[in-house]
Amino acid sequence: MHPLQTRFDALVGAVGAPPDVDAPAATPRAELGAKLQSLAVDLAAEALPWRAEAPPYTRHLLARSAQTGATLYAVAWCEGATSPVHDHETWGLVAVVRGALTEERWRRAEPAPPRVTGPAGALVRGARTGLQPSDLLAFPAGHVHAVTGRGSALSLHLYGGLQRAYLRFDLSAGTQTLVPDSDAAAV
Ligand SMILES: [Fe+2]
Repeated sequence: MHPLQTRFDALVGAVGAPPDVDAPAATPRAELGAKLQSLAVDLAAEALPWRAEAPPYTRHLLARSAQTGATLYAVAWCEGATSPVHDHETWGLVAVVRGALTEERWRRAEPAPPRVTGPAGALVRGARTGLQPSDLLAFPAGHVHAVTGRGSALSLHLYGGLQRAYLRFDLSAGTQTLVPDSDAAAV
């Protein structure tokens, strides 16, 4: 067990119960972000066991709430690796332990189609943001983005509820594919 396991468990335990986390507009609470950042700072001072085992990154599950499905992952990135463009079923918080991340986000130009494989609807490229240690990325459910890791990046990801599947977008084809969540899933 990791020495900070009790803090991992406490963090996912601090996530509120459904239906709050499943509401379409649900967003993470500020105090959860502060706790995640504090955890990232403390972990940065340690020798950590989590490695990138295969491109583009490896997710290491640190804690899961049996009540809400909230999960905390450490994500170890291969150099320069980028996630697919994807959405999230729940809100998320991301803090950088070491290295750096770049997030590119997209916004929907029209109401989102059903979360099934098929036409994606219009997506417009939005902001590109660099994230260093001590920065925090917060996004609501339905957020669409792609994330790149640099400098042997290691990041902490807190998700607010069950992630049964995510949408992977093919922007040139204008399509979306519903992908079951797994350890190799998008981050
Ligand atoms: Fe993501």
